[in-house]
Amino acid sequence: MRVPVSLSLAALSLVGSTAAHPLADTEEVLHRDSDAQQKADAVKEAFQHSWDGYMKYAFPHDELHPVSNGYGDSRNGWGASAVDALSTAIIMGKKDVVNTILKHVATIDYSKTDSEVSLFETTIRYLGGMLSGYDLLKGPASGMVQDSKLVDNLLTQSKNLGDVLKFAFNTGSGVPYNNINITSKGNDGSTTNGLAVTGTLVLEWTRLSDLTGDDEYATISQKAESYLLDPKPSSGEPFPGLVGSNINIANGQFADGHVSWDGGDDSFYEYLIKMYVYDPERFATYKDRWVLAAESTINHLQAHPEPRPDLTFLSSYEDGEYSLSSQHLTCFDGGSFLLGGTVLGRQDFIDFGLKLVSGCEATYNATLTKIGPDSWGWDPNSVPSSQQEFYEKAGFYITSGAYVLRPEVIESFYYAYRVTGKQFYRDWAWNAFVAINATARTDSGFAALSNVNAANGGSKYDNQESFLFAEVMKYSYLIHADDAEWQVQTGGKNTFVFNTEAHPVRVKHT
Ligand SMILES: *[C@@H]1O[C@H](CO)[C@@H](O)[C@H](O)[C@H]1NC(C)=O
Ligand SMILES: *[C@@H]1O[C@H](CO)[C@@H](O)[C@H](O)[C@H]1NC(C)=O
Ligand SMILES: *[C@@H]1O[C@H](CO)[C@@H](O)[C@H](O)[C@H]1NC(C)=O
Repeated sequence: MRVPVSLSLAALSLVGSTAAHPLADTEEVLHRDSDAQQKADAVKEAFQHSWDGYMKYAFPHDELHPVSNGYGDSRNGWGASAVDALSTAIIMGKKDVVNTILKHVATIDYSKTDSEVSLFETTIRYLGGMLSGYDLLKGPASGMVQDSKLVDNLLTQSKNLGDVLKFAFNTGSGVPYNNINITSKGNDGSTTNGLAVTGTLVLEWTRLSDLTGDDEYATISQKAESYLLDPKPSSGEPFPGLVGSNINIANGQFADGHVSWDGGDDSFYEYLIKMYVYDPERFATYKDRWVLAAESTINHLQAHPEPRPDLTFLSSYEDGEYSLSSQHLTCFDGGSFLLGGTVLGRQDFIDFGLKLVSGCEATYNATLTKIGPDSWGWDPNSVPSSQQEFYEKAGFYITSGAYVLRPEVIESFYYAYRVTGKQFYRDWAWNAFVAINATARTDSGFAALSNVNAANGGSKYDNQESFLFAEVMKYSYLIHADDAEWQVQTGGKNTFVFNTEAHPVRVKHT
């Protein structure tokens, strides 16, 4: 990446406003700003590269197979990558891409699919993607699309999708089935539903009600969430605010007391504080539960590897035993603590969040490719002999070396930068992006990798998840981009809140 010597017009205009500062400071500001613009542009180039490959080889299917130049339909064949790319394309100002996606959305028939539907995945990718597109194009990005019918259609299709899915909540307790058959209105026969998939619906479904004026979507999603906010029996809440991983669909009771911020549990905690950001009046209880969980996490789950006591990871817990292991998915945790810390004015949460962010950076920094692994451990009694040396130096050993284009580490760098303003968080995000671009890029897009600690990332998996567009590209871009209404703000100033798929949803009352 070349850093140009010439200054952009926007950067030059800063000269006037910073004239009162010493010259050295002014130069620093100018250098950083022009640098950031170049980096934001480089991320846009990568987005366009993968969009072009998707259009050429996979559209209107769900995702590109970036090695064979084929396609897959893992998300019911409704064009997941297109819908997931919408809010990123809007934020990047890519009008042509936005118009292509809106025309596609108008053609989707959400009542038909050949495969089982995941209530969770469909909510966070499709419903979240469309509602965010609607909020952005009706708000700060209005004027981008001439045909207002295409914008209004995003809400119509959101309602259509909600109406197709809502039977999933029609159970004894109101805790939904996750895996459903929308043709037969059947389900997979599960007796329990997971914490994350139950507790990561309420933002999108509440937004759908607030935009349509039909309360049903909010009511059913909040009813399901009510069991998570008031856990029964007490074994389902081993530490205040930290709850088990599975809930009985028949009666809403917790089926276990396994506690973590890992995949399966993760975004339940994420949404507790985000609901408060969405509407502090209606969701004060959610905030209280997040505060309890955050305090218990600091008190009970934080862990420091024996050879690297400077690092902070989160362990998991069940029946008096700790598991010293964590995941790439868990790395949203720093961002969650930073958001809660800034919104609630709790410096202790901000400080702890920054420690989690540094721990996740260390997993990137330690590998050959400079991309972090999918999962790792630091139990001194379980170190594989082949990784002893690596463990002593890095403070962890790799339990899965895959990288499947996940965003959570860059996501937390983004929150750290927005909350502290410290340049080195931008540098970390840039390093990660450059490494991903160098290792995972193919002629048509980006491929998942088998081993981040092998030359060239090991082998490439022939898959490009739709969240590459929604999340990796968005957070990589936003951390270098100019301030805007959709950016995360400090204190109580947010006018948007990001769903767990990185789709910004307009907060209530703004
Ligand atoms: C869904 O139900 C329909 C109607 O009973 C059936 O034909 C179809 O095979 C089912 N789909 C799946 C993915 O099980
Ligand atoms: C990577 O880790 C090393 C050792 O912990 C540290 O000195 C260095 O600053 C880190 N690099 C970055 C970019 O964070
Ligand atoms: C990303 O990779 C492409 C293709 O190798 C290259 O042209 C581009 O400069 C890279 N971008 C960055 C920021 O490294």
